[in-house]
Amino acid sequence: MDGEWIKVGSVADIDEDDTYPVEIDGRRVCLYNLGGEIFATDGTCTHGDADLSLGMVVDSCLIECPLHEGTFDIRSGRAVGAPCTEPLRCHPVKVEQGVIFLRPAH
Ligand code: FES
Repeated sequence: MDGEWIKVGSVADIDEDDTYPVEIDGRRVCLYNLGGEIFATDGTCTHGDADLSLGMVVDSCLIECPLHEGTFDIRSGRAVGAPCTEPLRCHPVKVEQGVIFLRPAH
């Protein structure tokens, strides 16, 4: 079962096409601003122990891992570019008056 909505930041904290790290229950989570729309995924690459918030947003919707340059679709978590094959967990987000709330997925 998914958890409660948690306040994790404000839209103003995240530049467009940029990443923003947050920690939830000791877990690394990464927020993204794709053209004004906010998304969240687990913050650790599924290929290795790399912090995706240090990666780059490419092609307007992909996060490129800083370690081996594998890529994931931020909107779905789908592994897109090698060497990544396992998808990233995505977390539901909502924005209310510029404040970002996230409901951790398990
Ligand atoms: Fe992310 Fe290898 S650790 S692609």
